[in-house]
Amino acid sequence: MMSTHEKTYTTKANFMLHGGDYNPDQWLDRPDILADDIKLMQLSHTNTFSVGIFAWAALEPEEGVYNFEWLDKVIDDIYSIDGRVILATPSGARPAWMSQKYPEVLRVNGARVKQLHGGRHNHCFTSPVYREKTQKINRLLAERYGSHPALLMWHISNEYGGECHCDRCQGAFREYLKKKYNNDLKFLNDAWWGPFWSHTFTDWSQIESPSSIGESMVHGLNLDWRRFVTDQTIDFFENEIVPIKELTPDVPITTNFMADTHELIPFQALDYSKFAKHLDVISWDAYPAWHNDIESTADLAMRVGFIDDLYRCLKQQPFLLMESTPSMVNWHPVNKAKRPGMHLLSSIQMVAHGSDSILYFQWRKSRGSSEKFHGAVVDHDNSSDNRVFQDVAEVGKTLEKLSGVVGTNRPADVAILYDWESNWALNDAQGFGLKTKRYPQTLVQHYRAFWEKDIPVDVITKEQDFAAYKLLVIPMLYLVSEETISRLKSFVAGGGTLVTTYISGLVNEHDLTYLGGWHKNLQEIFGISPVETDTYYPEDKNTVSYQNRSYELKDYATIIKLNGATVEGTYKEDFYANTPAVTSHSYENGKAYYIGGRLEDQFHRDFYQEIINDLELQPAFSVKHEKGVSVQVRRAPESDYIFVMNFTEKKQPITIESLVKDLVTGEDVSGELILERYEVRILENKK
Ligand code: GLA
Ligand code: GLA
Repeated sequence: MMSTHEKTYTTKANFMLHGGDYNPDQWLDRPDILADDIKLMQLSHTNTFSVGIFAWAALEPEEGVYNFEWLDKVIDDIYSIDGRVILATPSGARPAWMSQKYPEVLRVNGARVKQLHGGRHNHCFTSPVYREKTQKINRLLAERYGSHPALLMWHISNEYGGECHCDRCQGAFREYLKKKYNNDLKFLNDAWWGPFWSHTFTDWSQIESPSSIGESMVHGLNLDWRRFVTDQTIDFFENEIVPIKELTPDVPITTNFMADTHELIPFQALDYSKFAKHLDVISWDAYPAWHNDIESTADLAMRVGFIDDLYRCLKQQPFLLMESTPSMVNWHPVNKAKRPGMHLLSSIQMVAHGSDSILYFQWRKSRGSSEKFHGAVVDHDNSSDNRVFQDVAEVGKTLEKLSGVVGTNRPADVAILYDWESNWALNDAQGFGLKTKRYPQTLVQHYRAFWEKDIPVDVITKEQDFAAYKLLVIPMLYLVSEETISRLKSFVAGGGTLVTTYISGLVNEHDLTYLGGWHKNLQEIFGISPVETDTYYPEDKNTVSYQNRSYELKDYATIIKLNGATVEGTYKEDFYANTPAVTSHSYENGKAYYIGGRLEDQFHRDFYQEIINDLELQPAFSVKHEKGVSVQVRRAPESDYIFVMNFTEKKQPITIESLVKDLVTGEDVSGELILERYEVRILENKK
């Protein structure tokens, strides 16, 4: 793990990037508008633009016929105002001529239906033609712009996602399986529990990807398919960057990650922990639905913070916010405008959690097609006077004062483990409550206990170093390999504190259950054995008594057999009334806690407070405040940068005990202050 006191520059820039997706290819017949863009860029205090993301048809209007002159001018014009460019490869969408001439580039869906041309993000990742075409155009871009002084970074494709089930992809999948299972079909059949429903394969060619018209019940197959889709996407990406690495080895590479669109949970379809290893910089596109009708502003802010902390920790370095909206999107069920103050607050929150940029989709609002009402910096009025433009300029002016923050990280003693594979397997599990598994949401429930107390958290993945933390929380870690179990054991033996819950440690990396009860290493660490898990109907409730207080339990209750652990809490009702619900156990130099049921937020607050006291965990900077205010810190060698954010609709009093400097006003502050609704203060504490 990197030292948290060194600065890590993710790009060559030592300033906060501000700007976003710029699509001048939609306006090539309007030189007046392109000229206005350059003027407006200066007025908006922006400095960095991602260009060429979907520009393939403008760059190669006919096969082998190229038109780069417009892009030359755009990049030169941006550089003329001292702007920088994040140059995209155009593979996120392709020209119609290509689909027409080479139908193999089109995707085939799970039901084996070949798709027509249209939309975007719908190419086959295996197609040799598509791979050759992307390499060719990428080589030309790298040759032409690789040494342009405006070039800051590469933006490879756009939001990789989806999957193709064409014959070529089936072939690639079978090759992947042969390699994985040492060319041994018995090994595969064993791993996939072949004899079940006569699903034993006798030839590799019988194997097909999961399908709604074929196989969907073989969990080992489903899991391997998800792994293959991640690997094949990365393989396609690696093919894209061959000429880029060759010609511009010093220019960092990113691709924009996503969150799951509906609920704002980490993106589900690709294992980003694997993808991250192939990138120089993590970036993501964040579109929280502020002011929605189901949760408080603070609750949504907390969920954004969770994803930030996960994506930042993929490389343990600052990340970039690659896309966000200055106002609204066009694809939420209701596309509400950000209220005054929210744009600055929500932008600065990203910086507080580790972003070195605020970038938007998009610079100028489209005139036609599906994104013509998606928020943008420049609206159809082409004006710098409106509220949204002024909000953007305010963010720009603020970021100009934060160059000291660039490259700084966020030290944490607490880690929560997020695992893509475990989530896939758990979602596949036919059992428990089909709608109440909610793995990412459960992690956020645990995260809340720390977020509310301003205790920094790293959200890590399983290959990272556990020993860097005092406390490791692994809720609902359903799939866990022998190897990870051994590492958890060493972590606790070495003095770490480990917390797990119901539905953890049930299957191995093939999604096969462990036999003979809970894994013996887990039994040793936790001093218990979970023997039965009861699943509740939505109306069912139980109560857990913990430290003489009562807490509501829903969804799951695991019956626990003690084997050396201390009982910390008990169930109050049902046939397991008065049996252990929460346990603790000292193992060698560390301690391990098991939480048997899904308990209300107040339980987590109280439960983790005990651990916080025991381990003397501290906020990175102490500010007294009420609920809904969040304090996050980024640490530089000489200074702490403190972000105090009011995610409520009310004025909030806060108290700062030491003397710090307000980075925006330049004034010294201490003592009691009032934060207005949605106000953020950015403070510097010099060491
Ligand atoms: C049916 C089938 C069994 C089994 C059960 C599960 O009864 O015949 O093979 O799948 O459902 O409840
Ligand atoms: C994604 C895409 C962008 C744009 C936005 C709209 O993030 O990458 O091209 O469509 O969504 O919110």
